[in-house]
Amino acid sequence: MMFFTPLKWEKDKLVILDQTLLPLKEKYLEIRDIETLYEAIVKLRIRGAPLLGIAGAFGVYLGIKDFRGDKEKLLKKMEETINYLAQSRPTAVNLFWGMERVRKKIMGNLHLHVEELKEIALQEAQAILEEDIRISQKIGEYGSKIIFQQDSVLTHCNAGGLATSGYGTALAVLFKAHEKGKKLVVYVDETRPLLQGARLTTWELQKAGIESYLICDNMAGVVMKEGKVKKVIIGADRVASNGDTANKIGSYSLAILAHYHSIPFYIACPVSTIDFSIKEGKDIPIEERSPEEILTIKGERIAPHNTKVYNPAFDVVPHHLITAFITEKGLVYPPFEKNLHKLIE
Ligand code: MRU
Repeated sequence: MMFFTPLKWEKDKLVILDQTLLPLKEKYLEIRDIETLYEAIVKLRIRGAPLLGIAGAFGVYLGIKDFRGDKEKLLKKMEETINYLAQSRPTAVNLFWGMERVRKKIMGNLHLHVEELKEIALQEAQAILEEDIRISQKIGEYGSKIIFQQDSVLTHCNAGGLATSGYGTALAVLFKAHEKGKKLVVYVDETRPLLQGARLTTWELQKAGIESYLICDNMAGVVMKEGKVKKVIIGADRVASNGDTANKIGSYSLAILAHYHSIPFYIACPVSTIDFSIKEGKDIPIEERSPEEILTIKGERIAPHNTKVYNPAFDVVPHHLITAFITEKGLVYPPFEKNLHKLIE
């Protein structure tokens, strides 16, 4: 079941749920141009790898929809739009993947007129959105098989409906298991500094009626030691072809903790999050965000002036710490280099 719509296309505009206001306010924003979309991505009003893929695809259409002129200039406008939106956030490969799919669609249909090209760009973005709904359901279906009755799972950040078209990746697994009548408990890392776990994941789990406990990120170790966690399931922003996985900052520490406590560690993601052009995790670009996110809480300063800050938004989980990937094509176990490739053969 989907409890909200994080993004939809309405006649001539994108309508998005502003995730920065959750869980206190459910407010929708209308996006009619790429500048507003860019701001929404950078400020994390929309976020999560699969949702960024969908947003990027619609972004290409937004960038060209009011264009008047010949085909050559339309293509130039499209490239400018893609280059502009590509500057917003670097880590989630889906953003680039979504834009590339629309680009390819246009380039493969150059016999069409300008207005028709615009129309197929919109159709492709809509197809990506609809596909994502089906993909999330499949990830949930495959993943639910590894969830036992009375299971307890720890998750990090938000890989739920809000990060996709409405059903999620890591949380899709939990939603589906719950729908099948499996009773489970979820430990939710608050996910400093932007609190996606506290604000978004607990909100989604409560809507679904799944029991959850919110913990600070630094409590994960003790919760594992006390035997409260049977598996960890998180999402991904970009997976290298050897299986190294970039996800929200803190994922690396969690993977080490899980390994130490012999707790299985799963990554749930669509195949579109695997970047086969990148060999290993060290080549994944990691976004660094503003020091203010760490120096302040709700606008209030919590550290002395002149405090130096390092604020990487993501880290990389080495493949040898990952038990399996949960994808829409099934579970993928090691050796990842070989088995991830099979997904696209
Ligand atoms: O900075 P964010 O909130 O966009 O980071 C999101 C994550 O790290 C998610 O875990 C990831 O995108 C997977 S979402 C299905």
